[in-house]
Amino acid sequence: MFRGKKILITGGTGSLGTALTSRLLNEGVDTIRIFSRNENKQITMESKFKDDRLRFLLGDIRDYSRLVRAMEDIDIVFHAAALKHVPIIEYNPFEAIKTNVIGSQNVIDACLEENIPKAVAVGTDKAVSPLNTYGATKLLMEKLFVTASNYLQKDRHQTNFVALRYGNVLGSSGSVIPKFIEQIKNKEKITITDPSMTRFSITMDEALDFILKATEISKGSEIFIPKLQAYSISGIKDALFDLLGNTGSDIIGIREGEKMNEVLLNREEIRYSWEYENMYMVLNPLSKNNVPIDEYSNATKVDSMDEYSSDSVKKFSIEEMKKIITNSKLLTK
Ligand SMILES: NC(=O)c1ccc[n+]([C@@H]2O[C@H](COP(=O)([O-])OP(=O)(O)OC[C@H]3O[C@@H](n4cnc5c(N)ncnc54)[C@H](OP(=O)(O)O)[C@@H]3O)[C@@H](O)[C@H]2O)c1
Repeated sequence: MFRGKKILITGGTGSLGTALTSRLLNEGVDTIRIFSRNENKQITMESKFKDDRLRFLLGDIRDYSRLVRAMEDIDIVFHAAALKHVPIIEYNPFEAIKTNVIGSQNVIDACLEENIPKAVAVGTDKAVSPLNTYGATKLLMEKLFVTASNYLQKDRHQTNFVALRYGNVLGSSGSVIPKFIEQIKNKEKITITDPSMTRFSITMDEALDFILKATEISKGSEIFIPKLQAYSISGIKDALFDLLGNTGSDIIGIREGEKMNEVLLNREEIRYSWEYENMYMVLNPLSKNNVPIDEYSNATKVDSMDEYSSDSVKKFSIEEMKKIITNSKLLTK
């Protein structure tokens, strides 16, 4: 579905945006417009890719008119731009609302104005029953997206707005494994919040497979969630000490706004949830446009699950963690 298509990625210079760009170029897209604020990141990305199908647009998703201009003739919008660092957002909540909520609303409005066929928003497990401001802003982003399929475009058609949710991308900017690796390489003790804390884990390649698959099967108003395994912080510590040597650890305690375990599907959502072999799909009970479920081939109803949380799913063994970390090439970066 991507061959020959014109794509816009908000946040295209970020960890996900860069990896998605690479994958979409291999899928034979016509053009990718990268939309973000920092010119230096764009210059670095441009010289890394050297591909004339890429266009770099400076812009802020807080600026609606800039988004409208950027979306001219686009077929698919991937909305990945966000503020995402939990402690920074706790301290600067107004800024997160402007980017993650109002910016997302601007993306939706611009899609409707420019008659975009499909728009996919990238979300997080932290949006489920949120405890911190980041999660709350991403919950609102999801809500805006799954409801927006009800609205008509300027040409009276509909945009298929879709939301995705997944857990920590291994090695993405600001994530815990690169931080621990740096501490160990510097012969420092690693700083652990709580050894029994668990998190869903997804590699960048798995996240890309999931994003492209969900984009293909979506018809509008759904939330898609991949089926994932999880790790505990003590599991990561043991795997990294085995790989790099034991420099010791300090327990610094759970931070403001953090949960011990993350949830990808809460109890209430199970009622509206369907599953595929590798993912779940939550249908929006308030959508006016839900297509009949038999049009989603191979989706079966989820009925025997309580909650899909990182403490309830299978954990990676230490050996599996070591293999994942080694394959991710994070040790050599
Ligand atoms: N990383 C994870 O583990 C993870 C897990 C689940 C979901 N997610 C979600 O996935 C998305 C991408 O995450 P990531 O890890 O790739 O983040 P990232 O590396 O921090 O990238 C964020 C991107 O957004 C851009 N951006 C930020 N504010 C913007 C604004 N106001 N206007 C336009 N562009 C803006 C940044 O570029 P400039 O600063 O130059 O504007 C950058 O390109 C986010 O929505 C995040 O919530 C991430």
